Amino acid sequence: MLFRWLFYLFFLQGKSGFEIGQTDKEASRHRFDSTDVTRESDFLSFHEKTTLFEEICEEGWFIYSITDRYVYFVKISPVEEDNFETTISIEKCSKLSNFLYQNAEKLARCQVETFLRITKNLPPSRSKVLIFHSAPSSGGTTVGKLLQSCDNSKLSLLIVGEPPFLTSLSLLYNKLSIEELRNLSKSTIRFSTMHQKSQQTIVFKSRSSCTKIVPFIHSALPSVQHFFISRKSSTDIISRLVLTNSIEFQYPIFSFLLRFGQYFDINWISSWKEMELEIYTRIGPKNDLEFSMAQVYGALLNYRRNRQYFVQDMPFVEDLISDTAIHIRPLLDLCEISDLAIPECIEWKRNAEEQIQQTWDTVELSEEDVARVGHLAELLQQDVFLN
Ligand SMILES: *[C@@H]1O[C@H](CO)[C@@H](O)[C@H](O)[C@H]1NC(C)=O
Repeated sequence: MLFRWLFYLFFLQGKSGFEIGQTDKEASRHRFDSTDVTRESDFLSFHEKTTLFEEICEEGWFIYSITDRYVYFVKISPVEEDNFETTISIEKCSKLSNFLYQNAEKLARCQVETFLRITKNLPPSRSKVLIFHSAPSSGGTTVGKLLQSCDNSKLSLLIVGEPPFLTSLSLLYNKLSIEELRNLSKSTIRFSTMHQKSQQTIVFKSRSSCTKIVPFIHSALPSVQHFFISRKSSTDIISRLVLTNSIEFQYPIFSFLLRFGQYFDINWISSWKEMELEIYTRIGPKNDLEFSMAQVYGALLNYRRNRQYFVQDMPFVEDLISDTAIHIRPLLDLCEISDLAIPECIEWKRNAEEQIQQTWDTVELSEEDVARVGHLAELLQQDVFLN
């Protein structure tokens, strides 16, 4: 079924309140593309009452999606016998967006202006906040899990995989002014770190589309640091993305989007195109390979363009996995975690051999494919705006 659930909202147009309702458990939720970003249309909900910001500030509320008009929030409970940190950490929850989608109990929304006004006086984060960037399918989640294994308690280090607020900001890049993006970056990060413990480093592992919003976050919150972890060869990343997107679906989603994207607007089916709109437009992909290339180069070129805002000299994924004890040190320093945690990372690595092995799986690209990628990369690199 192609159609998303219509979003019925009999919400009052309260100008200052937070409108709140139960997510409808009866209606089966359907997302056409399971790798898609979270959207306002994901839930069927009915307005019940308006509430105060204080309720949304309780632990368990997360930003689910942001449009140019509204900020949407969902409420979850920790899974059995766990606390919130254990529930949302990347250790068990690779993608927070999927977890929130599946486990939301309540839904709330407020207007963007209201959110900006109310969050203006939220205090700064209690401790260090970092954002971890990577290209799609380049092993970022595995590195996130490796790093999380340093602190089982999550009290010193909490890594959150793909929080939807950052992905939403990266999509709003196509719509908002610089000032609006800066203000919204500040408010959403302050809100999302509200329950940080003192002495706890929070790392948000972002989706690949977020390398373009780093300058906005940096100017709004210079204390938030950014780092980028990559594999050594961009061809390996592209071929891995071609592979993963053909495994996760009965048919490769990129082929589907390309085929039908010619005839009608595909943005309501999947946001893959929107995530790297600029590079996508410049490449004008005709097949899976070129589509994957646009995604990977979008992340890489925006990283290069914004390099001055990133922490330098980060290790490669390959080195982190093959020689963890040496190469994980700069990451531990950055997260303010003691080197004494290294044996725990190595122990995790031993137990996660199968998962790590998958990170290296790629499809064999033909010589023509490699040459085509090289040619397109050259065209992009000749572009003055990307350098
Ligand atoms: C952004 O925030 C600043 C400082 O709070 C404010 O003066 C400005 O009007 C805001 N701009 C927008 C577009 O929201």
